[in-house]
Amino acid sequence: MDNKNGDNLYSSRCQDEYIISPGTKVINNSPRKINLAILASGHGSNFEALINSIKQNHLNAEIKVLIVNVPGCGAIEKALKHNIKYVLLDNHKFPNRKAHEIEILRILSHYSIDLIVMAGWMRIVSNLLIENYTERIINIHPSILPSFKGSKAIQDALNQAVKITGCTVHIVQKEVDSGEIIIQGAVAIDSNDNIDTLTSKIHKIEHIILPKAIEIMTTRINKY
Ligand code: GRF
Repeated sequence: MDNKNGDNLYSSRCQDEYIISPGTKVINNSPRKINLAILASGHGSNFEALINSIKQNHLNAEIKVLIVNVPGCGAIEKALKHNIKYVLLDNHKFPNRKAHEIEILRILSHYSIDLIVMAGWMRIVSNLLIENYTERIINIHPSILPSFKGSKAIQDALNQAVKITGCTVHIVQKEVDSGEIIIQGAVAIDSNDNIDTLTSKIHKIEHIILPKAIEIMTTRINKY
């Protein structure tokens, strides 16, 4: 069916259209400011989205520390730009996962962290970390879980030619990319999308849902 502009009504839609559920409004009404630690290994665009959200008073939280495991990663630059403390814990410099996580735990405890946000943390965490912060570690993943778990989620969605994909924030548990789903965002895949265009679409929604997920978690943590 065509409208008077000649657009096909069944296929036309706005380029930036997405669905987010739950459709919470970020209203910054939590009674107590929570202390966040961000764990990142990459560019840090989600980390920066959180910084901006807090600066705009959309989130009653403070990023106490950024922990990175990759020397020279983009997240470090962002921490320097926004004057946020960061700690580099290069996992290659530790004898094993346990020793690495013990050092992470020491830092988390030093900053009295309430919630850990894995924002592009490309390292599996063990029970040691998970059990010390039960239901207080969240992760952002670039697919609508439980579809497309793993480190190539965006490419996998393209390979499978699905028509809709997106991103998920979930509680971290031992099984990778599992755990209770807090919030999800969905986006259409166009026939001309490639890994770059789709990654950029997903990032846009990630930057919206991650602050919302923290708002949801803040309400829960303040009830403990
Ligand atoms: C995001 O796509 C996130 O879903 C995945 O890693 C990416 C991190 O991007 N876990 P950035 O470093 O925040 O830009």
